[in-house]
Order: sequence, then structure tokens, then C-alpha cells
Amino acid sequence: MTEEIRILMCAPNHYDVDYVINPWMEGNIHKSSRDRATEQWEGLYKILKEHAIVDLVEPQKGWPDMVFTANAGVVLGNVAVVSRFYHKERQGEEPYFKAWFAQQGFTVYELPKDLPFEGAGDALLDREGGWLWAGYGFRSELDSHAYLAKWLDIEVVSLQLVDDRFYHLDTCFCPLTGGYLLYYPPAFDFYSNRIIEMRVPMEKRIAIGEADAVKFACNAVNIGNKVIMNKVSNDLKQRLASVGFQAIETTLSEFIKAGGAAKCLTLRTTEPVQVEVHANTPVESRVIRLEGHLLDSGLINRALDAIVEGGGSFQVLSFELGEQRQSTSKAEVKVSAPGHSIMEEIVSRLINLGAVDLPADERDAKLEPVLMAGVAPDDFYVTTIYPTEVRIDGEWVRVQNQRMDGAIAITRTPEGPVARCKLLRDLALGEDVVVDVQGLRTVRKPEARDAKQEFSFMSGSVSSERRVELVVEQVAWELRQIRDRGGKVVVTAGPVAIHTGGGEHLASLIRDGYVQALLGGNAIAVHDIEQAMMGTSLGVDMKRGVAVRGGHRHHLKVINAIRRCGNIATAVEQGVITKGIFYECVKNNVPFSLAGSIRDDGPLPDTQMDLIKAQTEYSRLLDGAEMILMLSSMLHSIGVGNMTPAGVKMVCVDINPAVVTKLSDRGSVESIGVVTDVGLFLSMLVKHLELLTEPYKLPTQV
Ligand code: ARG
Repeated sequence: MTEEIRILMCAPNHYDVDYVINPWMEGNIHKSSRDRATEQWEGLYKILKEHAIVDLVEPQKGWPDMVFTANAGVVLGNVAVVSRFYHKERQGEEPYFKAWFAQQGFTVYELPKDLPFEGAGDALLDREGGWLWAGYGFRSELDSHAYLAKWLDIEVVSLQLVDDRFYHLDTCFCPLTGGYLLYYPPAFDFYSNRIIEMRVPMEKRIAIGEADAVKFACNAVNIGNKVIMNKVSNDLKQRLASVGFQAIETTLSEFIKAGGAAKCLTLRTTEPVQVEVHANTPVESRVIRLEGHLLDSGLINRALDAIVEGGGSFQVLSFELGEQRQSTSKAEVKVSAPGHSIMEEIVSRLINLGAVDLPADERDAKLEPVLMAGVAPDDFYVTTIYPTEVRIDGEWVRVQNQRMDGAIAITRTPEGPVARCKLLRDLALGEDVVVDVQGLRTVRKPEARDAKQEFSFMSGSVSSERRVELVVEQVAWELRQIRDRGGKVVVTAGPVAIHTGGGEHLASLIRDGYVQALLGGNAIAVHDIEQAMMGTSLGVDMKRGVAVRGGHRHHLKVINAIRRCGNIATAVEQGVITKGIFYECVKNNVPFSLAGSIRDDGPLPDTQMDLIKAQTEYSRLLDGAEMILMLSSMLHSIGVGNMTPAGVKMVCVDINPAVVTKLSDRGSVESIGVVTDVGLFLSMLVKHLELLTEPYKLPTQV
């Protein structure tokens, strides 16, 4: 027996599954046998007594989970931080554990109320490294980690748990003697896995599979080279043996019904302090403010989800609920993240949702100079589609040319600083670039109360026919309005628009003045002209729907004919092209831009093969657009989407739901996705527009 090691346990006199606070307890209410539990608990107790001194805390009636002493608190040296349980079902255990620690002479620390932390269930000392691994995500709040660091004077490494079956760190993570680690990687998020991999060398990581994980293999008590655990696979026992550990198995099935096993049933109360290590926790906090129809539009949910999904945690400091249907609400939320880069990421997502980083009100944006043309400083702020403002010399400056995936370049002029969204390649020496996320805010018009509805209306995977019809009606109405007030609509389309028979309809939209610019690639032009000149589209007769003999050569002949003319416009003038989309463009002075790609045949002389020039041309034609129709071209639609600021209506029509979702994902409420055949969509659209133009007839006249 080793004198120095003491372990706290609590006999299962009152143990039972009385409620459900984790997935293991589901379906097990009152299903465990007290006798069998006692037998299993004694089995573990006996083994432990051979290796340590076991202290006992008096079990209390009405607190069935008190057997799980791992959740009493966490101990280091003579300091104990007592737990604050997340669920009220266990909060009554707190005073008993607190009393026990105090009796034993520990200096006891208590966390602020409402800051959950579940003791050694979520805080495990590395057996070598001299730091504390701390879990969060289900039971303990990230903010508790900063207190642990301070009170225990130790570095805290925060790990985010993501699988609710492994709701406590000790259910999926067990540091072992000599710096080894037994763990189940899928229980952690990506970033936490990276942290683990950075701290524990590969040869010391014993990653287990799901089969052992669900038997609570990681919920083991390690003393020297002994690993005391529930029954596990032979394979795992061998792996442990190969690195010098001896697995001692003892059945604990009755406790697994409540979601715990060996480690949960114990708390090591002798944890020596390593003199050379000290507090250090990278946990950062910030306060952000949100305003708008926070509840009705779901904004608050999205913001809080963004924090948690980004690997942080939050505390709502205040929430002022708007009293009337129309009044907006206000919230202040404290955001915590386990490191600076994660914090930056989360805050920039929140800024995109319209949040204000509170201290940002008093701080200017951070600027760094461009040191090499076409290259931004590291950590440059990546722009979004939302109107953005930057704080420079105490003034908020509106960013011009808003688009996504750019950098914000600042130039000083006699009239004051000018902020502009620029692509990396366009950054010039002498400009400053905004780095970090401070001193930035996005200006969003308060989201409509029912914005969510409008949005999900279309992004539902497949729109029913009636729904398609509703969208068509809506789009027709808007096209009409825009045309009549001299506005601008841009269409970007792929060759599928032609193959599905939509060519003539798109041509008529252009002829009738509904389209002010057309963006595409080589293919749409080739197939449109092929259809105009030869009646086929990719060699298929568009009237009869059958392949024409030798048809596969048609498009090359077409390309050749246009090359002979010099370009599309000349071909129209010379009467080589007499109808179709591009014919109408030329005839009606609607500018178009064709962006080339590696697979292009020909290409047509009009196709711009210098993609940087093509991008510039696209964005020039998009400037001032109020609506963009994206017709079955993933490539061009996404390109266009990236160039377009929020506020421009985008209607994306594609038979492939993935394309539609991809575009709706940019999260702008103005985007509408329609999953349907584009030929059909266009024909319906034209029909609806005709209905709008027809003079109203009295029913008797029909
Ligand atoms: N039923 C208990 C709970 O859900 C089990 C606690 C297990 N303890 C542990 N350290 N993992 O809180």
C-alpha cells in the first residue's frame, strides 16, 4: 500500500437512477439493482484499498448520484475547488462535499453562482506535464477555467466536449503515469484534438475506439502502472500492457446505467503541487452587444450557436426584451474562448451577425501597412457581404466596394481616411490594411421579424411545384418593378439553361428589357448560337429531343463560324446569328461578359481567357445591380455571389439542391433558392410576365 495516495469514495446506500441528466440514464430509471451496485462498488473499493487509502464521505438520502465523488470538486495540494452542479438534480450534493473538504483542512474555493463546474469529472491533472486538462461543453462552463487557474495556480488547458454521451472529461480522457494518455478522440472538437496532439506525443497517445469508449474504458483510475477499469476489450488490455500498464478489470455495469464507472466513483485527494508550474490560462473574454428582433428572427439563437460552435462559451449579461411586436430587443453577452485565435474567429462571426464588440466602441481598428504589393499582413480581417464600418482616429468610416473575401485597405486623403474592400492581389504599397477584429462593425438593417421564414421558404431542400410557382410570381413582380423604374437586373447562366429549353425564354426576357447584363462562360454562348444556327444544343435537336447525326461536331462548327466573323456582335450584324440570347443582347445593347475556363473549346473570340480580367469585367457589370438571377451555373453563380454585397436580391435556380444551399449559406436574407429545372422556371417566368402585361379583362369578356 502506498501511504501518500488517498482516494475519496461514497458508498452506494442511496444510489439509484432517479432522473435523466445524461444519455446513459435514459430508459434506466429505477432499473439498477441496489444489491448488485453494492457488490460492484465493493469490488472496486477492495481493489483500490490495495493501492491507496480510501476515505469515505457519508452518503445522503435523496442524492443518489453522490456515489460519483469525482464530481465533489477538484483538489491540488491543500486547495479544493468545490463543484457547482449544472443540474439542480445534483446541486444538493454541494454542501456535503464542501463540508467534507473543510473538515479535512482544505482551503475551499467556491465559484460564483450560476457558473457550473463539475469537479474532477471535468478537470484532470496531467500526470507529467504539470497542467490541468479541463473540459467544457456540457456540464462545466469555460469561464470556470480561469478561476481554476487562479486558485490552483496552475496552467489550465481547455478541451471542448462535443458528444453528449461523453459529457464529462473523465468519460473520454484519462491521463496516465509517464505522460501517457488514454482517450477517445471523437469526443472532442477539432481544435481540442489539435491541442491534445500538440501536448502529448504520438507514441504516448492511446486512442481507443467507440466499442471500448462506451464501456467507459477511459473512466479509469490510474495508480502507478495499474489502470483500474470496467471490463474492456482484450485488444485494449494488450495495448496498455505493451506500454507497461496493467489493466485491472472490475465490472461496474450498474453504475454505467447512471453514466459513470471507476473514475467517477473516486476522487483523488492527494495531488502534489509541482513547485515550478504556475497559473496560465489563455481563456479570453469579451462583451458584445446585439440589437434587433433577437427572438422573432432567431438572431439570438444564431449568435449563441455561433459562439458554442466556434468553441467558446457565453454568459448572457443582460437581455432587454422588446415589449411590442415591432420593438427590438437588446442583449449583452460575455463571450469566452480558450485562446486568442478562437476568440477572433468567434467575434468576427458575431460581427457578421450585426453584433458590436463593446470595447470596440472606444478603440480604433488595428492597421498594418502593406509591405509587399498584392500581399496582406497576417491576420488581416476578411470581409463579408455586409456593409461594414471601420473606426479610424475615433471616427466610423464606411467601407466602399463591399464584397466578401477581400481585405479592407485604408488610404489617407486630404478629406480623411478612405476604406475600401480590395482583393489581395489589388493591395498596393502605401496602403494600410485592417487586421484583427477590433474597431469594426457591420451595419445591418434590423432583420425582419419573419426573415427566417422568408429565407427557409426556399432553402428547404426541394421546393414543391406550388412553391416554385409562388417564387416565380414574386420574381416576375420584382422584375417588372425594376424594369419600370429603370433599375438593373443581371443574369448569370450556364449552358443548362439552353439544354433544358430555356434559351428562347431568356432571349425574350432580354428583348423585353428585363435584363441589363448577362454573365456566363464560353459554353452558354456556344450552345445558344449552336441552337440559333443549327437547331441543336450539344448536338441534340431541340425540337424533337433526339441526337442528330454528326451533331457532336455542331458546336465546333459554330465556334469556327463566329471566329471567322471576329466576334458575336459582328456575326449578328452580318446575319450569321439571327435569334437567341446573344442575338438579343447585341440587338438590345445588353452587355455580356464570358469568363473562360480550362475546358473551353475554341474558345469564342468573346470569351475572356484572362480570368483576372474576366473577374474585373464581371464586377463592373454587377455594379449597381438590384437583382441577380443565377440560372444553373454553380461556377459563375458562386463567383458572382462573392462579388456581391448584401442587399442585392439573388435568385438561384438549380436542379441540384447542393448549389442552391451553397448560395443560401452566405446567410443573406435576400437570397432565394429554387430547386427546379431551369428551362421550366424560365418558361413560367415569361408566362407570368406576360400575364402582368396583359390588360385586365372583365370575366365576361373572356
Ligand atoms: N449521473 C451522474 C451525472 O450525470 C454521473 C456522474 C459521473 N461522473 C463522472 N465524473 N463522469 O452527473
